[in-house]
Amino acid sequence: MRVFVTGATGFIGSAVVRELLDAGHTVTGLARSDTSAEALTAAGAAVHRGSLDDPDSLRRGAAAADGACHLAFVHDFSELSEFAASCALDLRAIETIGEVFAGTGKPFVVTSGTPGLDRGRVATEEDLAAPESFVSVRQPSEVAAVALAERGVRSSVVRLPRSVHGTGDKGLVPGLIAVARQTGRAAYVGDGTNRWPAVHRLDAARLYRWALESAPAGTRYHAVGDEGLPMRDIAELIATRLGVRAASVTADEAAGTLGFLGRVAALDCPASSTLTQKRTGWQPVEVGLMADLEAGHYFDDAQ
Ligand SMILES: NC(=O)c1ccc[n+]([C@@H]2O[C@H](COP(=O)([O-])OP(=O)(O)OC[C@H]3O[C@@H](n4cnc5c(N)ncnc54)[C@H](OP(=O)(O)O)[C@@H]3O)[C@@H](O)[C@H]2O)c1
Repeated sequence: MRVFVTGATGFIGSAVVRELLDAGHTVTGLARSDTSAEALTAAGAAVHRGSLDDPDSLRRGAAAADGACHLAFVHDFSELSEFAASCALDLRAIETIGEVFAGTGKPFVVTSGTPGLDRGRVATEEDLAAPESFVSVRQPSEVAAVALAERGVRSSVVRLPRSVHGTGDKGLVPGLIAVARQTGRAAYVGDGTNRWPAVHRLDAARLYRWALESAPAGTRYHAVGDEGLPMRDIAELIATRLGVRAASVTADEAAGTLGFLGRVAALDCPASSTLTQKRTGWQPVEVGLMADLEAGHYFDDAQ
């Protein structure tokens, strides 16, 4: 299949590209800079120049493809308003590619996040984000993707958990480690019992491939390995590795050091992939987040 991948140079997108190429697909990645174009060429993918801000470039990329995986996202977590603007751009990109695929039955795999329920129970594929939760701002993208099924697109959604980990991670966990280095304390919020789901990027990439090849139209999947790791356990492991102390902070303090991501870190949002595993045969096979942290690469000076 000729697959158009947005976010193909990213931490997860590059793993998806590798997974698709290894399975014999042809990949064309969206590149907004020479650096990204060079990275795609080095990975063995073709380059399509363009950007999320340029809908025509998305239209052209999709028109030349048999299917698409959308992982590009503007990661500005400085304020909730910035995140909301990124979500609005994401929605427009999904609608643009969906328009090109309408009536073709082509597969279109869209990225979302596991729901922010924060209600003390494990979220499933059947749940939506609690409307009052600030993370529900991303939900319109997911709803739009599922709705494309009514328009003759074999759309599906892969929901990623709070922490997608592996070598090259630049997300929440490296953020916590950087703050711990600066402040001399590895922070957890409150009593640290709030739980984070997690998955290894290579496991996530396998689920994208399955969804592209096989997902029925209008379906949602959870790429979840660890259902819910208490934040305090993560902080204590970081503290041990860095030789600092683990310490409780308030949600406001976490937001003060990590911005919007600090507020995300404070949520109790366990999520399961039981239904995904039953419906797809996909299973996480890579190491979990704690073992990945134990492996040491998160604490290399280069990180
Ligand atoms: N990493 C996690 O822990 C995690 C957790 C939950 C959900 N997610 C979601 O998973 C997806 C992939 O995340 P990631 O961690 O792989 O992200 P990443 O490493 O930050 O990569 C982002 C990708 O989006 C591209 N991009 C950013 N702005 C763009 C623009 N204006 N136009 C075109 N391309 C643009 C980047 O291209 P350049 O190479 O040009 O910068 C890059 O390929 C995102 O939707 C993210 O929100 C990630």
